[in-house]
Amino acid sequence: MTALDLLTGPFLGVGLGIDVHSEAPDWASLLERNGKGPKRTFDFLEVYTRGEAGLAKQVKLAAKGLPLIYHHEGLDPVYPRTPRPEAVEAAATNMKALDAPWCVEELAYRRLDGRYLDFFMPAILTEESVRTAVSNFRAMNETLPAPVIPENPPYQLPVGDLHILTYLARVSELAEVPVVLDLGHLYSFQLCRALEPLAEIDRFPLDRVIELHVAGSTILNRDGITLYEDIHGAGNIPDVVLDMLAQVAPRCPNLRAVTIEVEDASTDTALAQASTVKKLVEKARAGGVSTGRLRPAKAARAK
Ligand SMILES: [Fe+2]
Repeated sequence: MTALDLLTGPFLGVGLGIDVHSEAPDWASLLERNGKGPKRTFDFLEVYTRGEAGLAKQVKLAAKGLPLIYHHEGLDPVYPRTPRPEAVEAAATNMKALDAPWCVEELAYRRLDGRYLDFFMPAILTEESVRTAVSNFRAMNETLPAPVIPENPPYQLPVGDLHILTYLARVSELAEVPVVLDLGHLYSFQLCRALEPLAEIDRFPLDRVIELHVAGSTILNRDGITLYEDIHGAGNIPDVVLDMLAQVAPRCPNLRAVTIEVEDASTDTALAQASTVKKLVEKARAGGVSTGRLRPAKAARAK
């Protein structure tokens, strides 16, 4: 099975992205309060770790058959070195523990010359960086038990000439992998370039999108400069990001999952976000949402 074969699987639904390191929301109480069958509030969990072992097994036991996707951080796929073997091994262990169909990893890095920096460094948007990402994803996907799928990272100061959607499409094409499109992160990039929220989306191969992400954020205004700050469950999902979801979800023919990243939210907030997004996605996929709050793609392209 190749990574692209994942695109032919069924739609899992709307799930919650939780960080096993965060106290809130408490994943065990989310699972307890999640109803059963068609009445459940969320359809899967996306479990985030920085590679630590052990907790993934506990989540798997408590999930009682609910699908689990894995979100790793630490493979540093855009850093110009082969991914560290210990990071790849840690990802493999957690993927197996969760029985995850795929693993999400952002196009970013945290380690510089072997040292961990507490700064999130998104991909430099050049062809050279595309080639690095492609060779790292190809190498990882030869050994891992399930494919690692790239996610577009958030930006506050993009470096390089490529649009993030061009970069993501190039990595997908050359590494032969599906992609995770984080709509909040996409909006963060568009804000930096003063572009419309869905600029360039018409040129993007939406049939490669396996998963969409949304999350809470704050939009900062610093000396007249607008910046997107990714705060996940500690904030509300902006209306503009929900509008992007309503427009993009029905245009992704191979979509398998919509994830709301909720770390730091209360259990009540996480469940409320799940039910709002679930209704929106069901309606959008059935062809029924037109918010009218985003400009049509044609107007964005003409800018
Ligand atoms: Fe994300």
